[in-house]
Amino acid sequence: MSEISASQPEASSSTSSPVIPTEPAVLPPKMRVADKWVKPNGPPVGSTFGARLLDGDRDVFEHNAWDHVTLPEDFKLKAAEIMELHRSSPVAENLRDGYNAKPAHYWDKFYTNHEDGFFKDRTWLRLEFPELVACSESDAGPKIVLEVGCGAGNTVFPLLMRNENPDLKIFATDYSKKAVQVVKANKMYPRAEHGLGELNASVWDITSKPSPSSSSSSSSSSTDPIPNNTSTATSMLESQIPEHDTNDSNGGEVKIVEDTLNDLSLSENTKLEKEYSLPEGIEPGSVDVISVIFVLSALHPKEWKQAITNLYAALRPGGLLLIRDYGRHDLAQLRIKKNRLLDPETPNLYIRGDGTRVYFFEKEELEGMLTNPVSEEGNKNMFEVVQLGEDRRLIVNRKEKKQMYRIWLQVKAKKL
Ligand SMILES: C[S@@+](CC[C@H](N)C(=O)[O-])C[C@H]1O[C@@H](n2cnc3c(N)ncnc32)[C@H](O)[C@@H]1O
Repeated sequence: MSEISASQPEASSSTSSPVIPTEPAVLPPKMRVADKWVKPNGPPVGSTFGARLLDGDRDVFEHNAWDHVTLPEDFKLKAAEIMELHRSSPVAENLRDGYNAKPAHYWDKFYTNHEDGFFKDRTWLRLEFPELVACSESDAGPKIVLEVGCGAGNTVFPLLMRNENPDLKIFATDYSKKAVQVVKANKMYPRAEHGLGELNASVWDITSKPSPSSSSSSSSSSTDPIPNNTSTATSMLESQIPEHDTNDSNGGEVKIVEDTLNDLSLSENTKLEKEYSLPEGIEPGSVDVISVIFVLSALHPKEWKQAITNLYAALRPGGLLLIRDYGRHDLAQLRIKKNRLLDPETPNLYIRGDGTRVYFFEKEELEGMLTNPVSEEGNKNMFEVVQLGEDRRLIVNRKEKKQMYRIWLQVKAKKL
């Protein structure tokens, strides 16, 4: 049986001039934004990262760097000796509080000195955090991305300049006013030349607590006390109660409302309502993806809990938190000399020469802070950790025959 394909219309029986079949235009497949992060005819941008493996009999001095390396047997022992040196010669006691009191001040100085000299087109984002790039596809739909500790904009500008999603909103935040100024001064702010998507930069401290007034406020300001769906559910319940019945004098009514809230499993969120603070323009439970890249390491461990609580409150359920940061015994830690450990009571937290703080994480520490329960009594964890990886790279100084290890941690966690 002869088949007539859609592109070959049946021959006409009429005597008029024959219709010349036309081939339907075959459009080239639309290129995804993620593919455009790769060079048209070459290897993916940044793909050498992760591709050079030091196996078996290869000469370590053949290249400058090797990926996914195994640490040598004596590595831990040597690292422990250096840690002991750090512990025995910490920062002088009278200087410690100064570094912790106004940490943003040192970052301001950093960005004043370097302006956007540190800006890099971070092409590795596409390989490591495709979830971030996915928000910029033309068919992604409305998406909100929050970048915390944005610095000079190393994540937000590469994302914005390739963005094809008209409904992408990127919020870039940093507690350094100077960093935010640098972002705002970029010619791509608040839109790249193509005009798609929007960038909003503001000053925000990830460790900030809600201002005392915000816990009783019902406005939808940056510290709106009631997260996501809870806001509607709670206010609906409250609106069903006659005003004069909501005060303590009518204990029975109040108790019924409390029980109802508990039945609806809202108690965890209403507890949280007094505990978080969000950046300007961010509604609780609204963010699709948060990126926190080399930022948690700048916090004091006692600030971790508040930081994670804030991030949790900003994300929508199912939203993703993406973290990349320094791993324990990374070269940057082992290179540190005397008088930089901030406090022997807090191992692995240092002061750099420019006064900024830096912490080196164990994987379990990052995992632990994310899997905390939403409330003390609750049995629901904040996040499900979907990736917890250690990225180890061997850097070789061929001239001096030196071998040095970079260790970075990468975490992806989904809000439960
Ligand atoms: C090492 S830089 C990384 C900058 C940027 N994320 C990047 O990867 O290029 C750390 C950044 O975190 C910011 N930062 C540190 N502590 C912060 C905090 N508590 N709240 C908000 N930003 C903070 C600093 O101002 C600085 O811009």
